[in-house]
Amino acid sequence: MAAISAKGQEEFKAQSYVRIGDEAGDFDCVSQLGPINWHKYIDGKWAILCSHPKDFTPVCTTEIGRLADLKEEWAKRNVVVAVVSVDTVERHGEWITEINRVTGATVDYPLLADPTKAISMKYGMLDQEELDAKGLPLTVRSVFIIDPNKKIKAIITYPASTGRNFTEIIRVVDSLQSTATQQLATPVDWVIGGDFVVSPAINDEDALKRFPDLKIVSASCKLRTTKGPQ
Ligand code: BEZ
Repeated sequence: MAAISAKGQEEFKAQSYVRIGDEAGDFDCVSQLGPINWHKYIDGKWAILCSHPKDFTPVCTTEIGRLADLKEEWAKRNVVVAVVSVDTVERHGEWITEINRVTGATVDYPLLADPTKAISMKYGMLDQEELDAKGLPLTVRSVFIIDPNKKIKAIITYPASTGRNFTEIIRVVDSLQSTATQQLATPVDWVIGGDFVVSPAINDEDALKRFPDLKIVSASCKLRTTKGPQ
């Protein structure tokens, strides 16, 4: 594996780091669908911004097709999606033709072109091990889930060698959407229909008032479950 170059180290260190609770940074760029202003594109919606290392690579090809196949799942949840890499918009266009051919998908969401790395640097997507031929960092498989107030709600990063599981990413969206306005959380392996956990910040008396089906499973661990608002 090529070592990171001195310029690559500089780029890697100069990037910003985004954290849960930050505002999702705005940017203008081009996609295969035309120019995009990020904040206009996501306005009033939940959004998922994914990055991938490089166009015309095998794992990325499967991921981009799968994201397109899940179009109805995103729409049901009021989610818009976009994908970014350091490739050019021309390269994205050529790749999409091939993705559609091999996966049977119709990629109709924007692939954002970031050859200057402005977006990658803003979101801290650059990886110190995934490098181009010059030893410069490429983006890895980041996922940012953003709420309708443009706040970052979840960040997941996978290495280049591991394709994402979009069923899990949908599950995280479901958890975030289901708990956004209640003091509820979702336990391990939760999926829609499963019991919620009541936030430890609410005392038992208030919890019972709000959730009459409350079950106290462990008082010492504050593990209290409910089906949610009745
Ligand atoms: C891929 O998409 O297959 C890939 C990209 C970069 C490194 C390893 C795999």
